[in-house]
This record gives sequence, structure tokens and C-alpha cells, in this order.
Amino acid sequence: MKKIFVNGYGSIGSRITSFLKDDPEITVIGVGKYSPDEKVNVAISRGLNVYVPERKLDSFSDYKISGTIESALDECDLVIDAAPGGHGYKNKKNLYEPKNISAIYQGGESTTGDESVSNLLFNSRANYDLASGKQHVMQGSCNVTGMGRILEPLREKFGDDLIRFDVTLVRRWADIEQTEKKVSDTIEMTEKPHHGDDVKLYFGKDAPLYVRAIKVPTRQMHLHIMDIRFKETAPKPSELHNIFADEFGVATLWTAKGTKDVRDYAQNMGFNFTDTNMIHIHANMTTSIGDTVQMMYSDDQTGIVIPENHMLLQAMLFDKSYEDAFAHTESIFHMKEKKLKLQEHFAKKD
Ligand SMILES: NC(=O)c1ccc[n+]([C@@H]2O[C@H](COP(=O)([O-])OP(=O)(O)OC[C@H]3O[C@@H](n4cnc5c(N)ncnc54)[C@H](OP(=O)(O)O)[C@@H]3O)[C@@H](O)[C@H]2O)c1
Repeated sequence: MKKIFVNGYGSIGSRITSFLKDDPEITVIGVGKYSPDEKVNVAISRGLNVYVPERKLDSFSDYKISGTIESALDECDLVIDAAPGGHGYKNKKNLYEPKNISAIYQGGESTTGDESVSNLLFNSRANYDLASGKQHVMQGSCNVTGMGRILEPLREKFGDDLIRFDVTLVRRWADIEQTEKKVSDTIEMTEKPHHGDDVKLYFGKDAPLYVRAIKVPTRQMHLHIMDIRFKETAPKPSELHNIFADEFGVATLWTAKGTKDVRDYAQNMGFNFTDTNMIHIHANMTTSIGDTVQMMYSDDQTGIVIPENHMLLQAMLFDKSYEDAFAHTESIFHMKEKKLKLQEHFAKKD
């Protein structure tokens, strides 16, 4: 039984912890909290031990905390860092490296430049094997993970027939539970988005991938608008959709009018945290024109990286083969079942 500590209990940390509790191969030592707020008691009510930074002990005197983050780290085999972007790097330098502890970082960090947390950006579909034996690995962000689920299968199928990919990321403003975050009534343009460069870390630095990004006032997922150019005539939409029929974490939907329809369905079906944990090709929007396929898919911003973290920890902690890790992740996340339910509900109407 391996012991894991989850440092940070926000959108990502709370989800990861919840799924890890269902994993018989893992014990969750506890979670790290930094603000003395109601979420401390939420975590405790869920049966979790809450740890806080040593320097902040006094401010948590009204809460039943279990000890300091520093002491919890001494007990664990691996820490999953779920800190706000940039803090993971500081934690690596101040906590994990001095204690020689293996760590997984989230997509708000970087794998290049002065504040790089790792030389590996993980995407289970593209580079699972490279994570084995590594001590510090970053899980790609939600958009970067989502793009991989489309690009890798396309490359496997069409190889040199592909000429270029142009992607516009329409990013959500905030997560559903981030109620303190105001959603501004504007369309914000992102200069030099990191997502294309991040994808190229696993897809190849010379890949003909061009990414633009804007942020829109919604909490309901990201949407990627992708144009795929081929050397010759582009395949028909049906041929493209067939590639994803058995693809992990990709559902093909025909009748969702918007991203909220998908989220609402997940909520009605009682999916954990109202997440689908996947991307959804909006098949009714796929067109093939001359040498180009135009497609759109939505990306469950909070859910998509959670099974990925689970795959990653199996490579790092247990050195499992891709097949074994995949089967174990599937037994906990039930992705196949969720995909089939989504596809059935949003099936094509004659
Ligand atoms: N939200 C998404 O859709 C999404 C998707 C993919 C990847 N990510 C990435 O996942 C990471 C976490 O994002 P999030 O959305 O979960 O953020 P979040 O909801 O704002 O939660 C951040 C959590 O980190 C805690 N924290 C504060 N300072 C910390 C520190 N120094 N070390 C460790 N934890 C600290 C906070 O504690 P207190 O609340 O107690 O202050 C809070 O529980 C980021 O890198 C983000 O880019 C997010």
C-alpha cells in the first residue's frame, strides 16, 4: 500500500482525493490547506486528515487539523501537488526536493524556463512509458490534455497525409465551484498562449500546430475549434469520427446544443463532481471541405486531468505497464460506461 499526500484542496485536489479514496492500492494520508475557511471542515467531514503549513498553525486553532504539511510529507511515498499555478515550483524547491519526495505537478506549472518543475509533461496517450522511474513529473493542463486525445489518434491514422492543425481554444472563465471568482462580461484575448508549445513537448517540437486562445464568460467547459489540413482530399466526417469510436476519454455527441447540456447531463446522471472526465466531439459540427476537416470538441476542464493523474501515479509509484495502469484506472473511473451513456443520450436523431 503506497501513501499519498495531496497538497492543495481546490478544484483539482478535492477531485483527485475523492477518486483516490476508491483505490485499494493507495492510502491518502491527508490534504494540505492554506486558508482557514469552511473547506477545512468539508474535508474533515469527508473523512480526510487536514494538514497546514507550520507557519500558519495558529490561524487554524479553531479547526481540528491533524498536523503540519511538513510532517505529513515525511510520511508519504509521493505528493500530488494541486497548488495554484506557480506555487508547485516553490513547493518543489522548499519542500519536496529537500525531503527527497517524488511529486506530480499540475498544468499551471511549467516544464521549460527557470521555474520548470520537470523535464516531462505527461500525457498518458502519448508518453506514458516515459514517466516510469521519474521523481518529478508535470501533468499537462486540461486544454493540453484534451488536444492530445484528438491529435495522437489522428497522427496514428493519417501520419504524413496531415499538413497542419489550426486550433482556437475558447477557454472557460472559472470553474463551477469557484463561486468567489466573478465571471467578467468580456471576451479576453490571450497573448502567446502556452498550450501549443506544451502540446509540442509530447507531440513533437516541429509539429505543424498553431494555437490561438480566447477566454469567454462561462464556467461550462472549454471548446476547441480545430481545422485539420490534409495533403490531398480530406476524409469524410464519418471516417474521422470512426477513429474515436474506441478511444479512451473521447465521446462523440450529435445533439448537445452547448457545453452546459453536457454538464447538466453529467449532473443528472450523478457523475462524480458533475464531471465527465473526457472530451466530447460535437459531431454535428464536423465538416469536410476540400483538403480540410473542421471540427469542434468540448473539454471538461476540471475532470479531464483526474484520470490522467491516476495513470501517472501508477507509472511513478508502481512502475506498471500502460495496459495494467489503464485497466486499474478504468475500474475506478468507469470511463467506458460514461462515454456510452453520453453517446446514447446525445445520439444522432434520424
Ligand atoms: N481548475 C481547472 O479546471 C484545472 C484543470 C487542469 C489543471 N489545473 C491546474 O491545477 C492546479 C490547481 O488548480 P485548481 O483549479 O485546483 O486551483 P484552486 O481551486 O484555486 O485550488 C488551489 C488549492 O491550493 C491550495 N494552496 C494555496 N497555496 C498553496 C501552496 N503554496 N501549496 C499547495 N497548495 C496551496 C489552496 O488552499 P486554500 O484554499 O486553503 O488557500 C487551494 O486548496 C493549477 O496548476 C491549475 O492550473 C486546473
